[in-house]
Amino acid sequence: MSKTLLVTGAAGFIGANFVHYWARSHPQDRLIAYDALTYAGNLANLDSLQGQPNFSFVHADICDYDRVLATLREHAVDTVVHFAAESHVDRSITGPDAFIETNVVGTHTLLKAAREVWLGGPSPLAHRFHHVSTDEVYGSLAATAPAFSEQHRYEPNSPYSASKAASDHLVRAYHHTYGLQVTTSNCSNNYGPFHFPEKLIPLCITNILRGLPLPVYGDGSNIRDWLYVEDHCRGIELVLEQGAVGETYNIGGNNEWSNLAIVELLCDRLDARFAADTSLAGRFPGAPAAAGGSARDLVTFVEDRAGHDWRYAIDARKAAAELGYAPVESFESGLERTLDWFLGNEDWWRPLLSG
Ligand SMILES: NC(=O)c1ccc[n+]([C@@H]2O[C@H](COP(=O)([O-])OP(=O)(O)OC[C@H]3O[C@@H](n4cnc5c(N)ncnc54)[C@H](O)[C@@H]3O)[C@@H](O)[C@H]2O)c1
Repeated sequence: MSKTLLVTGAAGFIGANFVHYWARSHPQDRLIAYDALTYAGNLANLDSLQGQPNFSFVHADICDYDRVLATLREHAVDTVVHFAAESHVDRSITGPDAFIETNVVGTHTLLKAAREVWLGGPSPLAHRFHHVSTDEVYGSLAATAPAFSEQHRYEPNSPYSASKAASDHLVRAYHHTYGLQVTTSNCSNNYGPFHFPEKLIPLCITNILRGLPLPVYGDGSNIRDWLYVEDHCRGIELVLEQGAVGETYNIGGNNEWSNLAIVELLCDRLDARFAADTSLAGRFPGAPAAAGGSARDLVTFVEDRAGHDWRYAIDARKAAAELGYAPVESFESGLERTLDWFLGNEDWWRPLLSG
């Protein structure tokens, strides 16, 4: 049976990848992309979907209860996939208010409206509310500690992760208190197409291509688990199709890297691209490899982020056992696809950068 999905934050990085993925793999379903178009939202991410019969875009804020309610009703939405958030830890340190507003109040506004529409009538409507969250709610791990399982206690350390933790609890509470049919997924760091170039991987790619410094926090030893964004989309699809209502699933890439190792890997991969394709030197004359240099010379250590979590790692065995989840991309293949995308989509990232 076909579904009608409301995808919040659909003009952002993961939301956009998700709507493209869903449109390809479920062409019979209707997709309502809902986004306030903050600095992180980019309508260009949805260009190829605009005008398609099963796709609509709603420019609105998730904190606007009346708009959320009207959208759910007007489109007879049966599935919410909730990505919209303030998502950059550094911004949450300098300006936490927007994080509380969107991530906590906004998520609560969606839940309230969903409850009204799906459970407020004479008989409940079939529905699902899927909430997309982060491994950062679990806090930080020591070097040899086991990866975060779904049982790990919540221990958020930044205003960003605290706001996501609060939203996870609200989603859980709406299930336990009102019977809303919810699922939650907590995932590790994503990378891939449409990644806004303030985050580590796209920042490094676009800075190397322009010959700009590659800022590395502290000594670069902080460790993250990296997940190709399409594998995340597949994981969410599995949770929507087979996940148990009220449950939480961790989605990871089994792929831990220190920040410095990632930056150096990107430098080496891009240098190799320049060596293999001489036209790149003409297109990106600022890149060190264009003049026979090495991108590693751009690495610049900067003062560590306040309260910087040392290590995140995801234990995704529950999703593997219950849903058959496994990442399809290796880091090797995912990174090559990401480099292909950034090299082929300069028109997308140039306007987002100042230099
Ligand atoms: N990027 C990652 O590596 C990662 C990892 C784990 C979890 N997550 C979670 O995945 C989700 C998506 O992350 P992302 O990286 O795509 O974020 P993003 O910052 O790229 O995109 C967020 C989108 O939400 C929209 N938005 C922000 N506030 C809004 C509001 N009040 N109303 C409507 N729309 C609003 C923005 O315009 C933007 O399009 C977030 O919930 C984030 O916490 C991301």
